[in-house]
Amino acid sequence: MNELLPKLSTVPEGIHSPSDYLSYAKERLPPEIWRYLEEGSANNVSLQANLHVFDSIHLIPRPLSDVRSGHTQITLFGQTLTHPVILAPLAYQRLYHPHGESASAMAASAQEGQFCVSSLASQTLEDIISAAGQPLWFQLYWQENRERTLKLLQRAIAAGYSTIVFTVDAPIKQATIQLPAAIRPVNLDFPTPFPTLSPQQSQVFDGWMAQAPRWEDLAWLRDQISLPLLVKGMLHPEDAEKVINLGCDGLVVSNHGGRVLDGAPASLAHLPPIVRTISGRGKVLFDSGIRNGRDIYKALALGADAVMIGRPYIWGLATAGAIGVAHVIRLLRDELELTMALTGTTSIQEITKEKIQISRNQDPD
Ligand code: FNR
Repeated sequence: MNELLPKLSTVPEGIHSPSDYLSYAKERLPPEIWRYLEEGSANNVSLQANLHVFDSIHLIPRPLSDVRSGHTQITLFGQTLTHPVILAPLAYQRLYHPHGESASAMAASAQEGQFCVSSLASQTLEDIISAAGQPLWFQLYWQENRERTLKLLQRAIAAGYSTIVFTVDAPIKQATIQLPAAIRPVNLDFPTPFPTLSPQQSQVFDGWMAQAPRWEDLAWLRDQISLPLLVKGMLHPEDAEKVINLGCDGLVVSNHGGRVLDGAPASLAHLPPIVRTISGRGKVLFDSGIRNGRDIYKALALGADAVMIGRPYIWGLATAGAIGVAHVIRLLRDELELTMALTGTTSIQEITKEKIQISRNQDPD
């Protein structure tokens, strides 16, 4: 087996875009961890679709525009962010760098953005927020029942997490990696043993799904907290409508980076109908497939209020820890600013559907 290269303490030479970090990360991670990070599910149909769909959106140059006062600032749930790039929740970040989630938290803060910490974090919620030096967002996975879920939620709130993102598209978490002994979801209680099923019962319906959340649990969850609550993993406008009707503050249009239901459509393809349905009654965030600042621009033009990025910041983490993550965020922001400048756009609010052209044969709307 090839020796893994050591982590870097500065950003590597010759990096021009987040994707340039990919090969640096790959050389620094054991192959099984690399596969776990990069894989989609089954045949990677949704993973590929997430990436390719961006090619069907074209950006229209608007030269000679005066963009001298341009900026990328947004306000989300009372917080001003210098740019609309939020680090998505990704589990077990000590797999990629010994500094784990704390490094991502520091990077997000240094770049005046946000980080959504996974329920499956490999460091304590308290340590991560202390590394950030600012309130962070917390991604909640359902913990088998209401009592256990509430316990985890209350711990996050006590630690200072300010926005809750409830992920609902991955009710069955099949482990695709054997975690090293030193890395585990340190914020979770040990799971209760799986219920014993009779041979007539289904492992899916009577086993896993018996412990999965349902709409009535979302209604219950909404009543438990006054903090902003978003639901992550929406692709159908009817579900988005229900989420808003239950009093949630927004949602994340996402197919989990193509990791759960292979065959699910490209996440971007379902952004416009959901934006239309929500029609300003809540915030709509988008993730799955963003690899550069032009992709961010396209998602914003299709109606997203902000975006989350997944794998690209982990490439930075695996290469150079907090500095690598901060650099990825900065590169994305630079690319977004450049795209705005070339399309004659001076604010995030000005990035609208009029600024793009959609290929007729691949219309994501
Ligand atoms: C994820 N994602 C995820 N989502 C979540 O809500 N909680 C989690 O713990 C995780 N863990 C996780 C691990 C790994 C290795 C990946 C790649 C993804 C999904 C994540 O938040 C996000 O939706 C996708 O990563 C976005 O797609 P891109 O940007 O990776 O294409």
